[in-house]
Amino acid sequence: MKRHLLSAADLTRTDAELVLQTAEELRSLADRPIKKLPALRGRTVVNLFFEDSTRTRISFEAAAKRLSADVINFAAKGSSLSKGESLKDTALTLEAMGADAVVVRHHASGAPHRLAHSGWVRSNVINAGDGTHEHPTQALLDAFTMWRHLAPRNSGSLDGCRVAIVGDVLHSRVARSNALLLHTLGAHVTLVAPPTLFPVGIDGWPVETSYDLDAVLPKTDVVMMLRVQRERMSASFFPTAREYSRRYGLDGRRMAGLQDHTIVMHPGPMVRGMEITADVADSDRSVIVEQVTNGVAVRMAVLYLLLGGNEPAGTTNEGDDA
Ligand code: NCD
Repeated sequence: MKRHLLSAADLTRTDAELVLQTAEELRSLADRPIKKLPALRGRTVVNLFFEDSTRTRISFEAAAKRLSADVINFAAKGSSLSKGESLKDTALTLEAMGADAVVVRHHASGAPHRLAHSGWVRSNVINAGDGTHEHPTQALLDAFTMWRHLAPRNSGSLDGCRVAIVGDVLHSRVARSNALLLHTLGAHVTLVAPPTLFPVGIDGWPVETSYDLDAVLPKTDVVMMLRVQRERMSASFFPTAREYSRRYGLDGRRMAGLQDHTIVMHPGPMVRGMEITADVADSDRSVIVEQVTNGVAVRMAVLYLLLGGNEPAGTTNEGDDA
């Protein structure tokens, strides 16, 4: 694996499969009374969040703590410094504190690359979401969730599985990272959105595109709904919320047309009633809560592989550091 995880494109198929296998071994830890391994004892993981987050920050924190690392949470929101200076000054502070890994979320696309390649820090850098660019650990936890559900009925892999990613692709770092990673893992991705919510350059992505949700749904094995990211919208991208939901929302009627095995995903936070109705979010097909559980295992795997070693983590020494 590369030293930093900045983009889903940093992962070869072998790397991605190693993360999934390691996550599978580590996942069982969540069911034990003592959820801790000594693998990263004495290492320091800094969570550097310049942008709001609930599950990603908590998930990284839980992951690092379950591997016995020391965790420093740094919420940088509200800094009055300009972006470049702020990031540099913060990086120098982290370096002085001896951070081994920096998990960074930033509103500017490319900020984690800057941190990793500037020479300001020696730590491993993990991108926890940069602007509208990428969110590789979200893609890994999504792929892990799909792999657990679909691989057993598909010769152990995601080869040829059909994944529909629906909604605000334009502002979604989740969509981009998933498109890249799922392509690496052999799945077929179809992005579904209104024409105004596709980014320029979509032709270069390894995906199919569609404006017609009803045409795509019956053929898909996974349907992943995206939040409409109003905080990133400076203009109007669709007439009304109601019109958007009518054409691109997943409701009970649309869910009824899915194949029996098809799962429904969402990275969260959900806007119930907008891109997904409550009955769908709470249905048996929904694996949305499972995605959160899997997020911890996948982030443990990433931290372990970047900081600890390159072999799958055995959980046999569990309890050593209890
Ligand atoms: C996503 C994000 O922040 O990019 N959420 C997440 O990390 N779980 C998607 C979103 O905010 O809609």
